[in-house]
Amino acid sequence: MRHILVTGANKGIGFAIAKAILTEHDDTQLLLGSRDAARGAAAMETLAADDAALAERVRAVELDVASDASVSAALSTVREALGGAKLHAIVNNAGAGFGPDGARQALEVNTRGVQRVCEAFIPLLEPDGGRIVIVSSAAGPNFVADCSEERQRFFLDASTEWEDLSALMDEFLADPAAAAERGLGSNPYGLSKALVNTYTLQLARRHPKLLVNACTPGFIETDMTRGVATSRGATPAQLGMKTPDDGARAPLHLLLGKLHGSGHYYGSDAKRSPLHRYRAPGSPEYSE
Ligand SMILES: NC(=O)c1ccc[n+]([C@@H]2O[C@H](COP(=O)([O-])OP(=O)(O)OC[C@H]3O[C@@H](n4cnc5c(N)ncnc54)[C@H](OP(=O)(O)O)[C@@H]3O)[C@@H](O)[C@H]2O)c1
Repeated sequence: MRHILVTGANKGIGFAIAKAILTEHDDTQLLLGSRDAARGAAAMETLAADDAALAERVRAVELDVASDASVSAALSTVREALGGAKLHAIVNNAGAGFGPDGARQALEVNTRGVQRVCEAFIPLLEPDGGRIVIVSSAAGPNFVADCSEERQRFFLDASTEWEDLSALMDEFLADPAAAAERGLGSNPYGLSKALVNTYTLQLARRHPKLLVNACTPGFIETDMTRGVATSRGATPAQLGMKTPDDGARAPLHLLLGKLHGSGHYYGSDAKRSPLHRYRAPGSPEYSE
C-alpha cells in the first residue's frame, strides 16, 4: 500500500487529486488533509457517496499548513495512521492568496506552509524514492521573468537556503511598496510561487534520494479563480479555464508517474518547464 498525504484536499484541485489517486491506483491509502475538520468530513462523504469502497482507503487529517501547532498535531495523527509504515508521498496542494490580507496569506500558505509541512513530514517519507509534489503555479515563472537578472539568478539558485527565502518574504511584508521598488514586484501570489519553486530546488539538493518536483495545474475553475471570470464579465470556459480533474493530471504524474530526476518544474501538460519564463502546454519540453 502506498500512503499519500494531500494538503487542502477538501475541495478544488486537491479534492480532484485525492479522487484520482483513489480511483486510478487501488494500492493507495489517502490521508486527506483539510484545515477544517467539518470540510474534511464533507469531502469524505462526497467520496463515499461516489463509491463506498473508496472511502475505506481514506482517513481525514485536520491540517492547517499555516499553523505550527496544527502541523504538529497532524504529524501525530499521520504517524498513528501509518502504524510504522512510511509515506510514499506528500502532495503540497493547499494554496491561498486572493482574500483579505492576500500578501501575508499567500506567503504564509503557499511558501511557508509548504516548508512547514515538508520539514515536519519528511522523516515519515520512504527515505529512498519517497516523493514530494508541490502544486505551484505558472505565476512563479511569470514573476521571475519580470525580475532583474540578479533576482532571476537568485530564484534559480539551488544552493540558496530557506533562510534566504524567509528573509526575502520578511522584506516584502515589512514594506511591500519599497520591496516593489527594489524589484520584488507587486504580485505576492507570484512571489510566493516563485519562492516555493526555489524551495523545490533546495529540497531536491538536500534530499538527493527523494523525488521532489513542482508543477502548475493549469488555469482551473475553482473557488480561487472563479472571481477572475466574474470580474472580467466572462464565464470560466470563455477564459480558457479547465476542470479540477484536468488540474490533477500534472500533480498525478509527479506523484505516481515515471520520473526522470528531481528538483524540476512541470507545466500542466506534465512536461518539464523552465522556472524563469512561461512555457505553454504543448510547446517543446524544457531540458536544461
Ligand atoms: N485554480 C487555478 O487556476 C490554479 C492555478 C495555478 C495554481 N493553483 C494552485 O493549486 C492549488 C489548489 O488551488 P485551487 O484552485 O484548488 O483552490 P481552492 O479551490 O480555493 O482550494 C484551495 C485549498 O487549499 C486549502 N487551504 C487554504 N489555506 C489553507 C491552510 N492554511 N491550510 C490548509 N489548507 C488550506 C483550502 O481549504 P479551505 O476549503 O478550508 O479554504 C482548499 O482546500 C493552490 O496551491 C493554488 O495556488 C491553482
